[in-house]
Amino acid sequence: MCMRVFVDSADQKQIESWLHQGVVDGVTTNPSIMFKDGATDLEECARRLAGLLGERPLSVEVTSNDLETMVEQARTFATWARNIVVKIPIVNEYGESCLGVMHRLSQEGIGVNATAILSFNQALLAAKAGATYVSIFAGRVADEGNDPAVTIRNVRSWLDDWELSSYIIVGSIRTVMDIQNAALAGAHIITIPPQFLPKMVDHRYTRETVRQFVEDAEKTLKEMNKVKVAAPGAR
Ligand code: E4P
Repeated sequence: MCMRVFVDSADQKQIESWLHQGVVDGVTTNPSIMFKDGATDLEECARRLAGLLGERPLSVEVTSNDLETMVEQARTFATWARNIVVKIPIVNEYGESCLGVMHRLSQEGIGVNATAILSFNQALLAAKAGATYVSIFAGRVADEGNDPAVTIRNVRSWLDDWELSSYIIVGSIRTVMDIQNAALAGAHIITIPPQFLPKMVDHRYTRETVRQFVEDAEKTLKEMNKVKVAAPGAR
């Protein structure tokens, strides 16, 4: 399977715009993104975004530190749409392991995105617990003084060696260079905040190159018309 691109956003217009350009394979959200993008009702927002995506996955994150509440929320989210994947943090804010939650949900057939992964060992355990996706937060790994490319490369090579089926999502993208680095380090999926997509597409010198071609095309078309007028019927 080819590397996939997700959009890290709850902004419907942005998601639709990039979906129509054929580059979106899924969407990830978290409570901060939902808040930033103006969602006022989690269920309404999740159902609406899931509906835009067809079969493509939408990640929706649980909102509690309590492990039983996480399981209940995940079960509810999964009823909203078939393509909803539930984001479960690797630990809650008190450092309690959420692996049991991931395991139970994956046993029930609910897709799990193990989130807030900052180390190789966290990714290893999440994959063992049955997470469909392990989300390595590249920007936050770098905040801690570590090289996210090393973590991504090591996790990818370990998953491949042991033929585990979890996919690495690289999130917490802060610059366009993070995207290139994640792709080359072996990310299966990169979830990109929409503000970086136009920066990836555009290039000053591409614009200048196209300007030259358009200018020359106008001159060429004028010359062709002159030939047509001088020798009508000639090919
Ligand atoms: C992706 O799944 C994450 O929710 C997101 O990329 C986190 O990014 P941040 O570190 O900018 O909050």
